[in-house]
Amino acid sequence: MIMERLAAWAMERFGERIEKELAAAKRQWIAPLRGRVLELGPGLGTNLPYLTDAHWTGLEPSQAMREGLQKRGAPGPLLAGSAEAIPLPDASLDAVVSTLVLCSVADPARALAEVRRVLKPGGTFVYIEHVAAPTAGRLCLQHLLRPACALLGCHPTRRTGDMIAQAGFDRILQEDLPVRGGLLLPHIVGRASQGL
Ligand SMILES: C[S@@+](CC[C@H](N)C(=O)[O-])C[C@H]1O[C@@H](n2cnc3c(N)ncnc32)[C@H](O)[C@@H]1O
Repeated sequence: MIMERLAAWAMERFGERIEKELAAAKRQWIAPLRGRVLELGPGLGTNLPYLTDAHWTGLEPSQAMREGLQKRGAPGPLLAGSAEAIPLPDASLDAVVSTLVLCSVADPARALAEVRRVLKPGGTFVYIEHVAAPTAGRLCLQHLLRPACALLGCHPTRRTGDMIAQAGFDRILQEDLPVRGGLLLPHIVGRASQGL
């Protein structure tokens, strides 16, 4: 619970700066989504302005984040639960969104299998995540960050892009996303789709 409160505080404190950095990518990758969209770990709702034309559902394990988002006004059902066990039927969603979440989930491979399960044929998984650095020197620096990140439940050295590539999606379009601080925490943005 203390870690959850700490993470909620960090999102309040630093969320705006991170948001400015990611806004263009969110406009490009998230805003076009339509239909039934599940957002994993919406936190305090930074993606909601980009999902106004979708039927949004949130899945958030942290009670502190859920309370914060309810106060701000969640535009749809906000479910308690985790990405590793999505409480929705098979093939029921047009899209799933995850921004800065797969660094935190306990079992990312399980979460990605769940994303595939709940997506309809032709459905899309859109993600923005920070990932392990590509060079040994930068990876060393990331390892130094690990204790501080652990306080927020975050794993800075996770190879999330590789995990998505191995998760069994039919098509993946993925790019590096330049951000300030990206030397230490490189970001990726992408779209993974299921075949029809
Ligand atoms: C760094 S915050 C990002 C919040 C939001 N997605 C954003 O971009 O502003 C990480 C979020 O992932 C949530 N989270 C952590 N573990 C999760 C899990 N297993 N399944 C779903 N969400 C999870 C946290 O509670 C938190 O809301």
